Amino acid sequence: MKRRGVTDSRIRDIALTPEGQRKIDWADAKMPVLRLIRERMKKEKPFRNRRVGCCLHVTTETANLMRTLRDGGAEVMLCASNPLSTQDYVAAALVADNISVYACRGDSRKEYYANMNRVIARRPEVLIDDGADLISTVHKQRLAGIIGGTEETTTGVIRLKQMEKNRVLNFPIIAVNDSLTKYLFDNRYGTGQSTIDGILRATNILISGGNFVVAGYGWCGRGLAMRAKGMGAQVIVTEVDPVKALEARMDGYTVMPMSEAAAAGDVFVTVTGNINVIRKEHMLKMKDGAIIANSGHFDVEIDKIGLKNITVRKRLIRNSCEEYKLKNGRRLYLLAEGRLVNLAAAEGHPAMVMDMSFANQALAVEYILQRGDLANEVYRLPLDLDQEIARLKLKSMGIGIDRLTPEQRRYLSSWTMGT
Ligand code: ADE
Repeated sequence: MKRRGVTDSRIRDIALTPEGQRKIDWADAKMPVLRLIRERMKKEKPFRNRRVGCCLHVTTETANLMRTLRDGGAEVMLCASNPLSTQDYVAAALVADNISVYACRGDSRKEYYANMNRVIARRPEVLIDDGADLISTVHKQRLAGIIGGTEETTTGVIRLKQMEKNRVLNFPIIAVNDSLTKYLFDNRYGTGQSTIDGILRATNILISGGNFVVAGYGWCGRGLAMRAKGMGAQVIVTEVDPVKALEARMDGYTVMPMSEAAAAGDVFVTVTGNINVIRKEHMLKMKDGAIIANSGHFDVEIDKIGLKNITVRKRLIRNSCEEYKLKNGRRLYLLAEGRLVNLAAAEGHPAMVMDMSFANQALAVEYILQRGDLANEVYRLPLDLDQEIARLKLKSMGIGIDRLTPEQRRYLSSWTMGT
């Protein structure tokens, strides 16, 4: 089942390769920006003789990023950023393509870290992370020789900025999450759609007509609320930030604390990036049949221990859907064990949106290596690269836009003209 071969790896089953190859190619057809970058990098080899260690969801979209790095000259090793998001057929196809993968869907916590250590043992020089587990692990191990890293997600960027603030960051980071062509699209439209996709695959419920509670009104929460509303749900938003709460209200949603939303909701989804957002006291108020899911990076947003403590019986109802029969006689349904429902119960964000996220990743690795002089801080990718990704994406969609006239340029750079 596990295999150590020519390409050092630890995957479920190499026989899944043909399925992986077909699905990776399907995704590739929807990733034109990354493909253009890959074609350039194949010629220029910006990563020649570099080792890149990646901790990402092992999906078809990630596979196309791995191919880009490899075609750009890198030796690439990949482990999973979540034990439930690995697509075993993708892992197989990558290994068949001579890219090292250490990931099996359903790995235990111990295996998850063992796989990460397998990547670290290969002495990566640049790290690509999703959630900052890989970067924090190499810091704990005081690993030398790392030139820089990139981070894919809001949760990871928060952790890394804290490391910067505490002056413990040992190399520069590009916060890919903070690129405009990342969070405005991946976090909003990607999470919005893939979270609904995960809930539907796990439950086949009708979204229309129900009360859909979104905990957290960051970019992911905004996207999710928008999509749930679009499907006919009554959306309730819970927030701790007064500005975001106000924005949710003015966007047309009902805003209330979780202590009130608990009794009203039919479906609850956490997208806060914080811990214990849905607690025992909330679960005790929920209706019989309420569905609870999380789409934040870590499985910490729903208090699973609290849920266990008020449960008399648990059983699997459908894939990724567990019933918890409570002591109060009601039944709650937890999806995907409280892990990212969009990746554990569905396939993550569509390739069309990951195209931009992973174009940012490829350019960020190139930028770190080109610059070579960045301080041990968290940076954004330069705006011109971010805008170039948007330009290429528009072009791939056949959409033209206007250009400033010389007169408009002068107007924007003047403080006396045309007032
Ligand atoms: N994060 C969210 N969706 C993803 C996907 N499809 N591939 C990799 N990482 C993701």
